[in-house]
Amino acid sequence: RIYRASTTAPVNIAVIKYWGKRDPNLNLPTNDSLSITLSQSDLRTHTTASCSSTYRASTPSDSLLLNGKTEPLTTPRSIVCLRSLRALRSKLESENPELPKLSTYPLRIASSNNFPTAAGLASSAAGFAALIRAIADLYELPQDPRTLSVIARQGSGSACRSLFGGYVAWDAGVREDGLDSCARVVASRSPWPEMRALILVASAAQKDVSSTAGMQTTVKTSGLFRQRLEDVPRRMKEMERAILMRDFETFAEITRRESNSFHATCLDTDPPIFYLNETSKMAIRAVEAMNKEAGMAVATYTFDAGPNCVIYYLEMEWNFIAAKLHVALKGKEGWPKGSMSDLSGLRM
Ligand code: DP6
Repeated sequence: RIYRASTTAPVNIAVIKYWGKRDPNLNLPTNDSLSITLSQSDLRTHTTASCSSTYRASTPSDSLLLNGKTEPLTTPRSIVCLRSLRALRSKLESENPELPKLSTYPLRIASSNNFPTAAGLASSAAGFAALIRAIADLYELPQDPRTLSVIARQGSGSACRSLFGGYVAWDAGVREDGLDSCARVVASRSPWPEMRALILVASAAQKDVSSTAGMQTTVKTSGLFRQRLEDVPRRMKEMERAILMRDFETFAEITRRESNSFHATCLDTDPPIFYLNETSKMAIRAVEAMNKEAGMAVATYTFDAGPNCVIYYLEMEWNFIAAKLHVALKGKEGWPKGSMSDLSGLRM
């Protein structure tokens, strides 16, 4: 018999960035962060986990099929995640001897993204979140989402936030074992239903410097990074308040300043890390100009470890924003092909 479970996990886009580890092995961050999880129907990873005693004959070890290509499941991060989930299942099996011994069977994982992998679109976040949840479902683990968030964090830091929907904080925690370093929901998406995200794909190419490598160099070399650590706790408090009060003006200001502070820190890293390209900068100018013209914040922008721009806005402003973006970016290299009607905000 083959046991199987499938799930999807969406991408999350941080408005307060995780950048820096106090413990690289356990993926423990130097600061709290906060993100918004997109809806299940937009950018997401779909993962099926299966296991069977019959797999032992053909593929005795765990295997992964990622976007149709066979990949090893032997990276230290995957190993840690699989080991933790197997340990939880094994405990369940010893408490309930009638259960099949799934923890001893090889696992087969099939995973696919509906967006470019590793282009700075948080694919590792959705990927590890989906992997953890699919195996937890397969193993019928009774564990609460916080426990799964701690496991996902060890796969990829930002993945701990993708296990929850809506506005999600990741508390850095203080414990050395990291058991208090996991995500929590600040607000579900329903209290602020007008919030939208638009992703401008400035380049779908694989990024130059991975987040993991980039943040290690930043921690070692950047003086601005230390300044960031002092600013982030205040920004976290103000951001949580802005979300709960649905205060878009404050949300917009913290989001753009936080993105700019993060990219300034990347530039202050030695050697410098450049994630933004000319199209990214054009998008920044376009949003700054439309806010100026409107005399209020109608949109804000943020960039992760890549050139793609995420614009957050309220739905009622869409016509104005779309017209301005059209004028500012149409025909420029990197601007998504197709007509404006192809663009629409992603639900969150
Ligand atoms: C810029 O979670 O990809 O997107 O823990 O090393 O896997 P690892 O890093 P990762 O870093 C994400 C960095 C970021 C900011 C964020 O999502 O908070």
